[in-house]
Amino acid sequence: MERKQLCALLGVLIILLGCAVGLRIFSDRLVSVYSPSGIERTVKRGALKKYLEAGWTYEYENASVTMYSADGRLVTVPSEDVEAYKSVGWFDKIEDAASSLYTDGGKELVIFRGCAESYSPPNAEKWKSLCDASTLLYDKSGKSSRVFTDNVAEYLENGWLRAPSEIDPSMKLVALTFDDGPSAEQTPRLLDICEKYGAHVTFYVLGSQAEKYPQILARAAKIGCEVGSHTYSHKQLTKLSSDTLKSEIEDASAVIESATGRPPRTLRPPYGAYNASVAESANAAIVLWSIDTLDWSTKDADQTVENILSGVRDGDIILLHDIYSQSIDAAERVIPALQSRGYILVTVEELINLRRGKLENGKTYRRVEYLPST
Ligand code: NI
Repeated sequence: MERKQLCALLGVLIILLGCAVGLRIFSDRLVSVYSPSGIERTVKRGALKKYLEAGWTYEYENASVTMYSADGRLVTVPSEDVEAYKSVGWFDKIEDAASSLYTDGGKELVIFRGCAESYSPPNAEKWKSLCDASTLLYDKSGKSSRVFTDNVAEYLENGWLRAPSEIDPSMKLVALTFDDGPSAEQTPRLLDICEKYGAHVTFYVLGSQAEKYPQILARAAKIGCEVGSHTYSHKQLTKLSSDTLKSEIEDASAVIESATGRPPRTLRPPYGAYNASVAESANAAIVLWSIDTLDWSTKDADQTVENILSGVRDGDIILLHDIYSQSIDAAERVIPALQSRGYILVTVEELINLRRGKLENGKTYRRVEYLPST
């Protein structure tokens, strides 16, 4: 081989080697990225963050973890990049990117969170959260089970209950209370709803109204509701002479006892106004409230439902009035909604007895939360 040929061969080898090295560097520095609509672009690695933040994805060798976006895309990335993806809103578990909706009949639909809007009203009528599509029912031994709405009637026929036959104080409890009644039109409607859902509520009745409708009170007591006192004629008790204070309380008690067979055990003073003399004369526990729905002011069922469901906590005592049709409309929606969230609707007296052992005359109660014995 001549020297010239040797040089040429060496030159070709060097060029080939150069190309190989160049190609390696080149391919290390560029990656393919994909836009949300699927456009592919080759970009420098250094620019990846910018593309990721704009919703693009990229592909790697040695990718091992599948990541999910809330709008239903998926991409496989190396495990060291999982955190980077999470930081721009991707999920490494499909359950986190998607959620399930259900029908009253128990059909399940898994949708990506980003698509949830297409299932909002009017399309949402059929697809609901698990809570809204089902109800907690209890068997005789107290075991609970979530039952889809369409099957509830059948379970009830087979002896299942809306509330456990024996309530454990650590269960979620809530007390709905209705002041200023009874009303000839609204209170019986509310009692129908209570009966339908097996809910116990408390009525703080006025003696002057109760006198006119003793049969409504008798029915309330018969289905497990409590009839408490809201005094005889709704005067502000803190402004009365001791004699008038006494008769406001005693006259109401007498009317309630003659209608239900039992004197009231709890008193709700009008306007929530009380003092030491009220406490002394009450001959009952003084019950205020922890949620004021303002139903008397808004007269709007949607708003009343919202005011309850947005803030309800275990042990709440909720103030409503059974003299407005909108308040009963609200109760009709709120009672099953609370039950589907696992709340048992109890009377105020039940709530206090279960949680505090015994109801104390003259003592004030607002919210009766569970206090685990230590
Ligand atoms: Ni009142």
